[in-house]
Amino acid sequence: MSAKKHGHVHHSKTTRDILSAERVLTTAGLKSGDIFLDAGSGDGFISFAASAVVGENGKVYAMDVYPESVVNIKKETEEKGIKNLDVAVADLTDKIPLDDDSIDICVMANVMHGFVENDEVEAVMKEIGRVIKQDGVFAVVEFKKIEGSRGPPFDIKLAPQDVEDILTQYNFEPVSASEVGPYHHLVKGINKK
Ligand SMILES: C[S@@+](CC[C@H](N)C(=O)[O-])C[C@H]1O[C@@H](n2cnc3c(N)ncnc32)[C@H](O)[C@@H]1O
Repeated sequence: MSAKKHGHVHHSKTTRDILSAERVLTTAGLKSGDIFLDAGSGDGFISFAASAVVGENGKVYAMDVYPESVVNIKKETEEKGIKNLDVAVADLTDKIPLDDDSIDICVMANVMHGFVENDEVEAVMKEIGRVIKQDGVFAVVEFKKIEGSRGPPFDIKLAPQDVEDILTQYNFEPVSASEVGPYHHLVKGINKK
């Protein structure tokens, strides 16, 4: 699996306990009726919050390479009778099973540092850029680059400027960098295709 082919192994951890999904989504600008992608969804806590925001006229896609996460999200979705959330196993470095220009807002939370470490940024950004609409939003959440704090090793953590450089390189215009809790920042980019 490409997510594990180099040094950094992405773990299917969740940041549910230390990151507010609502704060992430408000900062990203999610609204009712939007089509939303949770890229590397983990246990789906951001997807479930997004499902409530986008409502019955919107749609949420939760995607993760780890099949067990997907099964759990599917189960929770059925148990709660949620109709606007689709979940799929997908390797973001390979193919995102969505049409071109189909997404208004994509959040990628605590995943990008692994792609950097594994030299998979180009493959992922090609797919992310393809599925997000022109002028759509890509919001990248990462652990603050603070030594000894929560998250991946310091050397792997991405500062806002690191994320902005990635966005710029792949035709996204960085428009804001915000704190989204004690341990996280969010950099927002607009797809200029
Ligand atoms: C640290 S977890 C973050 C999960 C969630 N976004 C959160 O913030 O709690 C990283 C997630 O990225 C997923 N992931 C890693 N490589 C991936 C890939 N190539 N395609 C899709 N998902 C991937 C992992 O399975 C894992 O669920």
